[in-house]
Amino acid sequence: MKILVTGGAGYIGSHTVLTLLEQGHDVEVVDNHDNSSPEAIRRVERLAGRQVTLHEVDLREEERLTALLADSGFDAVIHFAGLKAVGESVAKPTLYYGTNLESTLSLLRAMAASTTRTIVFSSSATVYGDQAPVPNVESYEPLVATNPYGQTKVMIERILSDLAASDESWRVGLLRYYNPVGAHPSGQIGEDPEGIPNNLTPFISQVAVGLREHLTVFGDDYDTPDGTGHRDYIHVMDLAEGHVAALDHLAATPGIGARAWNLGTGTSSSVLDVVAAFERASGVEIKRVVGPRRGGDLTYSYADVSRAEEELGWKATRGLEQMMADLWRWQSENPRGYRG
Ligand code: NAD
Ligand code: WQD
Repeated sequence: MKILVTGGAGYIGSHTVLTLLEQGHDVEVVDNHDNSSPEAIRRVERLAGRQVTLHEVDLREEERLTALLADSGFDAVIHFAGLKAVGESVAKPTLYYGTNLESTLSLLRAMAASTTRTIVFSSSATVYGDQAPVPNVESYEPLVATNPYGQTKVMIERILSDLAASDESWRVGLLRYYNPVGAHPSGQIGEDPEGIPNNLTPFISQVAVGLREHLTVFGDDYDTPDGTGHRDYIHVMDLAEGHVAALDHLAATPGIGARAWNLGTGTSSSVLDVVAAFERASGVEIKRVVGPRRGGDLTYSYADVSRAEEELGWKATRGLEQMMADLWRWQSENPRGYRG
């Protein structure tokens, strides 16, 4: 297939582009490098031994995007591009609603003006809000999020579902990711956050290489066995493979409309489990202090993965040890990420 990947230079996008290339697909990337470096694509090309056409375009530049899609005959789009920092979205809601919604609407209009009608969207477990029972099932309603970032995911899922309902030629995959971590086993590509990491595992790995003094554990008084929050951590390579499985399923299923799949492992680990796994993988002790809870954090988040297993024939296979070993290889070989 010929696939257009928006946000393909980013963390999950770059791993998915590599997986697509390795499976024989042709790939073009659109990215404005708001949160990524073109170096990620250069490294993907080296790993795959194949070329990727990189379009440095903001998705909101609708004319350029329309021209790009018009005669290209893409079989599908994977739409990763967007802003993703929860805290920043609370501080700058108009930036988040503006960027994520305008980018998506511009992309959908450009697709509508072309022959491409299949799209896989990066949604998030955040759409289950703070009331849904665990494990989360895709049929759960109502979808609600507790911050503007999450609301953009709920809204874009709605837009895509309405679009699919309006015209059965559209095929839409809504992939609800849990907590993507780790890196490609080569150590050549990985997550490269700008500034202070918002997420747990890049923070841990930056402590390990001395970029941060210590990890703050956000609360140890949760109702869990060790008192720290539980999440469904999924290896980014498993996640990448889930996108290919979703594309294959959409290609084989005319009239599918819009369909959501959870991409997680179906199990959860605590903050302290993750720290211990990282310490075993790296041999580096992680200094930590316990701080207060972070506002908005859930006690437990994990997926029911039976729908993805049954319909996509996909299942995550890599465990926490491998996630941390691959994270450590990336971080120790690239302590300052793509910035050298
Ligand atoms: P990322 O920031 O590494 O990648 C996003 C990419 O999109 C970046 O390369 C950025 O430069 C690009 N981009 C942003 N706005 C753009 C625009 N207007 N035009 C063109 N390019 C633009 O993030 P990621 O972790 O790879 O996440 C990818 C997607 O998955 C996002 O939509 C994110 O919300 C979603 N998601 C991520 C997680 C996670 O924990 N990483 C969890 C659930 C969902
Ligand atoms: C994991 C656990 C923290 C940092 C967020 C978004 C979600 C998503 C993925 C985004 C929690 C604890 C963390 C630290 C800590 N999608 N923690 N110290 O909150 O599950 O999900 O990222 O695109 O929408 O909300 O992930 O990695 O921030 O936290 O103790 O310095 O680690 O409390 O239990 P989270 P996270």
